[in-house]
Amino acid sequence: MKAFWKNSKVRYLFLCILITFVTSCIIGITPISLDECKCDIQGSPSKLIRQVQRTNQIKSGKHRLAILVPFRDRFDELLIFVPHMHKFLSKQNIRYHIFIVNQIDNYRFNRASLINAGFLEVQKEFDYIAMHDVDLLPMNDELLYHYPAQGPYHIASPELHPRYHYPTFVGGILLVNREQFVQVNGMSNKYWGWGLEDDEFYVRLKEAGLNVGRPENVSTGTHNTFKHIHDRNRKKRDMTKCYNQREVTRRRDRRTGLKDVSYELVDITELTIAGTPTITVFKVSLDCNKTDTPWCDCTKSDDMKGEKVEDKKKNKKSQHGS
Ligand SMILES: *[C@@H]1O[C@H](CO)[C@@H](O)[C@H](O)[C@H]1NC(C)=O
Ligand SMILES: *[C@@H]1O[C@H](CO)[C@@H](O)[C@H](O)[C@H]1NC(C)=O
Repeated sequence: MKAFWKNSKVRYLFLCILITFVTSCIIGITPISLDECKCDIQGSPSKLIRQVQRTNQIKSGKHRLAILVPFRDRFDELLIFVPHMHKFLSKQNIRYHIFIVNQIDNYRFNRASLINAGFLEVQKEFDYIAMHDVDLLPMNDELLYHYPAQGPYHIASPELHPRYHYPTFVGGILLVNREQFVQVNGMSNKYWGWGLEDDEFYVRLKEAGLNVGRPENVSTGTHNTFKHIHDRNRKKRDMTKCYNQREVTRRRDRRTGLKDVSYELVDITELTIAGTPTITVFKVSLDCNKTDTPWCDCTKSDDMKGEKVEDKKKNKKSQHGS
């Protein structure tokens, strides 16, 4: 054997085999590292995509407005509202989206709870909201829907609104940024039927130390700043008061709000009206705690005297003509 190994030819042959083996081993490993290289090459386009996404994010870092429209059975007004708002807001370069929060349960209309529900659905993507009546159209381009950094901004100011002129009025159209809406726990959920929920919201803002800003030095007045497209004779407002509603809804509600609004989002529909950008319709079914707010349904109430009084008042008002 020793003689065999001492043969230099055999030694060289063995060395060659060894080198060949090692080389093929290296080659065998190489494709793996090449694959890794490919991974890197593939990695760069995804880096590019990430960069593009980041630039979009920077662009969309601009404030985004969610227009929340509490809604029930007002389709004719919606047909006018959406194209008008699109035309109006495009001039101001506002990034906005219109959300119709459509109440589909059988309880009385609850504007505040619909706004709470709408807010919860859009808060991730929008950093301010407009609580917006569907029947109030802004007509003067001096009314700005910009991000309300200082505090809530009441566009439908009592000096400009066609009907409501008391100084604490915050209904109609109100802009609120996301942080401040959360800070005051949104709106009270106790207001079933028409009215007063905005007055309670004013007290929430005031108690939180938030000042309501309003348009100043506007060139128009109460008759020509807004167009009120509500037909009061065709669509009667639900002024009924039953159970102890009148008493309870006059008080500040320190309990209910954004945190406990109870609803089901039944459906989301994208919709375009007359060629305007898509709007979103949330079908919302509200829950009512009948121990807490039995007046969400007045049909079983014995105490309907309140309603009769309201009816007489309404009749008188319409006799005076408006
Ligand atoms: C409105 O007009 C008053 C008086 O001319 C002025 O002092 C005030 O700064 C104006 N406000 C705005 C927001 O332009
Ligand atoms: C309804 O409201 C009452 C009174 O506030 C409360 O005690 C009760 O827990 C509520 N019920 C439900 C199901 O939330």
